[in-house]
Amino acid sequence: MYRTHNCGQLRIENVGSNVVLSGWVQGSNDLGHMMYTNLRDRYGITQLIFSKEKTSQDLFDKARTLGREFVVKATGKVIERHSKNPKIPTGDIEIEVTELEILNESKTPPFTIDNETDGGDDLRMTYRYLDLRRKPVQNNIIFRSKLSLETRIYLNSQNFVEVETPFLIKSTPEGARDFVVPSRMNKGQFYALPQSPQTFKQLLMISGLDRYFQIVKCFRDEDLRADRQPEFTQIDCEMSYVTQEDILNTFEGLTKHLFKTTLDVELEDFPRMTYDDAMRLYGSDKPDTRFGMQFVELNDVAKGTGFPVFDNAEIVVGICAEGQAGNFSNKDIKKLTEWMQRPQIGAKGLVYVKVEAGGTFKSPVGKFFSDEVLQTWADKFGAKEGDMILVLSGEDEKTRKQLNELRLEMGNRMGLRDPKKFSPLWVVDFPLLEWDEDSERFHAMHHPFTSPKKADMERMLNGDHETMKSLRADAYDLVINGVEIGGGSVRIHDRDLQSKNFDLLGFTKEEAEAQFGFLLGAFEYGAPPHGGIAFGFDRLCAVLNGVNSIRDFIAFPKNNQGRDMMIDAPSPIDETQLDELGIEMAKEEVE
Ligand code: AMO
Repeated sequence: MYRTHNCGQLRIENVGSNVVLSGWVQGSNDLGHMMYTNLRDRYGITQLIFSKEKTSQDLFDKARTLGREFVVKATGKVIERHSKNPKIPTGDIEIEVTELEILNESKTPPFTIDNETDGGDDLRMTYRYLDLRRKPVQNNIIFRSKLSLETRIYLNSQNFVEVETPFLIKSTPEGARDFVVPSRMNKGQFYALPQSPQTFKQLLMISGLDRYFQIVKCFRDEDLRADRQPEFTQIDCEMSYVTQEDILNTFEGLTKHLFKTTLDVELEDFPRMTYDDAMRLYGSDKPDTRFGMQFVELNDVAKGTGFPVFDNAEIVVGICAEGQAGNFSNKDIKKLTEWMQRPQIGAKGLVYVKVEAGGTFKSPVGKFFSDEVLQTWADKFGAKEGDMILVLSGEDEKTRKQLNELRLEMGNRMGLRDPKKFSPLWVVDFPLLEWDEDSERFHAMHHPFTSPKKADMERMLNGDHETMKSLRADAYDLVINGVEIGGGSVRIHDRDLQSKNFDLLGFTKEEAEAQFGFLLGAFEYGAPPHGGIAFGFDRLCAVLNGVNSIRDFIAFPKNNQGRDMMIDAPSPIDETQLDELGIEMAKEEVE
């Protein structure tokens, strides 16, 4: 028998029992006549004690050979500790060891396996199996497991059926590049790994499954960031005979259930905001609403006074940082301005106005604006003495995006982005199409299967080019703390409307038929009205735990170059394999 208990289990009540424990040696403290060893497993740490007085010389000598991460089996008696450790649940007891078996030795690990570690990112990724021995990393993976279990419990209670859809498919356009897989049996041809199961879940609605879900891997070849991995997981869902309202309510229910069962947090009903308002008030379609600092437009009070930067701008817009006037010296403001001018943000400059005592103001643009005028600015923001107004100007869309960055940065500096506070928000009424100036084409704002709002269908079928820019979709995102957790839409279920959409997106009839003929065809066999949503499961894990990086919640993640450092992938393959897959042939076929 390897163990009677795990390493997190024994308490004062167990004193006197004979037990067997197995685990990894966390570390030892050798006092010469006495030795303490911490034994660790997934459940906790238990202290083993070897004393020269009470144990045989052999056993004592063996204990002395234990190195970090040795795997051992210890048999002994539970005794009460003299000096208790209130920091761990097993801290009242220790095991007086009578037998010790070394099950496996270990080389000295390349970094410290403890809550805090000295290992750098790359090293920890290369030895991910050791990193995963660390409690905080292990806790994340266990949290993830609980979250997926609770997702299944909730969706099952709502009549959803879990269906697996294929990974070897034909490309689905979700906006990123596909990962492709060459086919040996069909030389020169490729599968694509799904960016999402979008078309399959729609087909399942046509099949009459009514409510589908899947906790599923998706693959996107895109630039990686803290909240993006090339393979990530979605809670993917689709429902038949539903309106947007039904879908939002169901998934608000799921989100509340997950917060309650994993964190014991009761969320209030989620507010909703239109895409237009989100852009106007926050310059972002995923605003962090844990704090206010909404945008205020100043065009009517800031333009036309001879300050050329503002006079020539399409928009003058700002935020008010409460109580910050005293916290920002000229040097600090200069630094903040430089931060805004970095190419990643690209602001031309930053104007501040500090509200001082008695209706006076301090600002570098003071000579262009009297205190009376600046008072009208302050009134618009509701700014009071000690506040600092920060203003940007320029082209509308760009300036709002820049101000969004500034707002988030000020939120960070002012401690307004508390990771333990949760502020969910539905962003609704996204535009259907987005005009891309460079390619002179429309792109689907969500994806090509998204339905315009009912009221816009007629305009979509018969309107002119300009009309298309104003079409609204039944598309929505769930945002929590400024992170896009999920997105979905009511779908088109009519062949003509879907064809029109492909047409607007620049597909020729032949291309649409070649790529999506199966779906268009299916629409002709009684497609029910349907819609759905997908949550980013890794992101949900991260947000619930108040962290930015989704990597911490993926057992074996890729690094920012898309590499798995541990198994060293991707890697070249040999020539025979290339020949077998017909890679050369594929090129000839295209030519
Ligand atoms: P969408 O493309 O918005 O919608 O994706 C849904 C959610 O998946 C998460 N996500 C990612 N997470 C980690 N790494 C990535 N590279 C990544 N890309 C996306 C986000 C996002 O909100 N088929 C539609 C859903 C639908 O319409 O039902 C879809 O995939 O949290």
